[in-house]
Amino acid sequence: MMRGLVSATYAFTTSQKRAPEDAATELTATRTPFPDEFAPGSLPRWRSAAQRRGRGPIPPTTAAEIGWATMNSYVNPLRDPQDRRLPRIAGPCVLVIFGVTGDLSRKKLMPAVYDLANRGMLPPGFGLVGFARRDWADQDFAQVVHDAVKENARTPFREEVWEQLLEGIRFVPGTFDDDQSFERLRDTIRDLDTARGTGGNHAFYLSIPPSSFEQVMTQLRRHGMTERHEGNWNRVVIEKPFGHDLESARELDDVVSVLFEPHEVFRIDHYLGKETVQNMLALRFANQMFEPIWNNHYVSHVEITMAEDIGIGGRAGYFDGIGIARDVIQNHLLQLLALTAMEEPTSFEAGQLRAEKKKVLAAARVPDRYDLHTARGQYAAGWQGGRPVIGYLEEDGVPEGSTTETYAAMRVDIDNRRWAGVPFYLRSAKRMPRRVTEVALSFKRAPHLPFTATDTEELGTNALVMRIQPDEGVTLRFGAKVPGTQMEIREVSMDFGYGGSFTESSPEAYERLILDVLLGDPPLFPQQEEVELSWKILDPVIEYWASLKQQPEQYASGTWGPASGREMLARDGFSWRRP
Ligand code: BG6
Repeated sequence: MMRGLVSATYAFTTSQKRAPEDAATELTATRTPFPDEFAPGSLPRWRSAAQRRGRGPIPPTTAAEIGWATMNSYVNPLRDPQDRRLPRIAGPCVLVIFGVTGDLSRKKLMPAVYDLANRGMLPPGFGLVGFARRDWADQDFAQVVHDAVKENARTPFREEVWEQLLEGIRFVPGTFDDDQSFERLRDTIRDLDTARGTGGNHAFYLSIPPSSFEQVMTQLRRHGMTERHEGNWNRVVIEKPFGHDLESARELDDVVSVLFEPHEVFRIDHYLGKETVQNMLALRFANQMFEPIWNNHYVSHVEITMAEDIGIGGRAGYFDGIGIARDVIQNHLLQLLALTAMEEPTSFEAGQLRAEKKKVLAAARVPDRYDLHTARGQYAAGWQGGRPVIGYLEEDGVPEGSTTETYAAMRVDIDNRRWAGVPFYLRSAKRMPRRVTEVALSFKRAPHLPFTATDTEELGTNALVMRIQPDEGVTLRFGAKVPGTQMEIREVSMDFGYGGSFTESSPEAYERLILDVLLGDPPLFPQQEEVELSWKILDPVIEYWASLKQQPEQYASGTWGPASGREMLARDGFSWRRP
């Protein structure tokens, strides 16, 4: 039962500052004080959009006191959003990171925040708040950020940028179950809003295990940090894994969507923030020459490879029991597949882009007979970069006899007119000979070759390879005449490399994605439906593997994976490209 509801109606104005999806929300919403039921662990499951709009309140005076509405409704009349010379700069806001002591935060998030500041993408009114179970003062946290930036930032360290950032850095010590910690967090944010003019705009980055999402989000709500006011915003950022199967992904969404509107939730799949991944859209849709051959009339098969040379390092706690398929195929590789196979969206507006990706994911499935069309493996000891390395089962924290796969490959068919009959092969693995991610379209043989068989012995297959990393670019492979009096055709490559063609270095994926969160720009963030469709593709395969109750096939570290992976393609008459 909700007790003591006092409704107050307030109006949203559709100012230009608001993201398109924000603008689409209804013009009025009812505010209710915070009901007693919102104690941690007792989330009410009221799900309709209208019901979800009933947010906890902030004292009506607060917004006026801080002057949010005035600050946020200002629109610079000289700024034209179409003008590419003007960088996209976030408005005043606070970024709160939960899990600041983790690897992701140290290696990616804090350096990305600095790089954004260094590139002038953050406003002077910016605050960075860390929350963690550490007995730290603001200066201690600032030192941690400073070290992380020095060690991992992409752009050079500049004292004046750091000094500016430092002014907005705060730390809140606390635990997720402690009300007082969240009260301190709320007060800290409000102080920043006043002192730094951050305007009541807050992004909460949950770089924490998904099992803690519910508790943290509930605490945010309980302590009045999720309500909206005219012109201000609250957003929550969640990192994959989005569940470990379809059911758990839905449960997670139940938790998230009770507290946040869909447009306030930013799910990070960092592959979508990579320049080269976005270039797939440019390559396909800015050019005329690829589209006519981008279908089953010309393409014989597609290979999507994400290979890493590293093992699991110290991540056994996260990785074991999860495995590579859930870790990266469910998200990164299926997103790459969706971008490769989707139809042209009518625009790059989030709704249009997602609609096209969803259609592909809904039509994609691993063909039955998982014994023939999937393969999995586990790295054994071997050699990596000239040094002997241990096998997965010897890694710290991996339980004896673990059946977690570190290599996964599967064929995915897309049941639509464009792709029927074209297998998409996905593979991902740890401890491969080198780190490489690419999407390769192989083309059919020309229907007739007016050469003798010996002329074309070294022709190979025509291929278009989108090199996602590390050597970012695009390769086109085709046959050319070897100079000489004989007609001899040999395979050659035509290369576009980012390094050679542009002087700008690519921003890190997290720079782009954090900036988009702060700007409220949603196209690069998958929505729940995409997450669910991806689990629908993967779940049956994982269930099948679990039912085998066998050890995955071993492969020596530093090799291209188990024999079953090669056999899977050989059965269809193909072999893996050597990236
Ligand atoms: C993460 C996975 O999503 O991507 C890690 O959880 C993996 O296991 C990482 O190492 C690889 O990212 P990148 O950007 O280096 O390809």
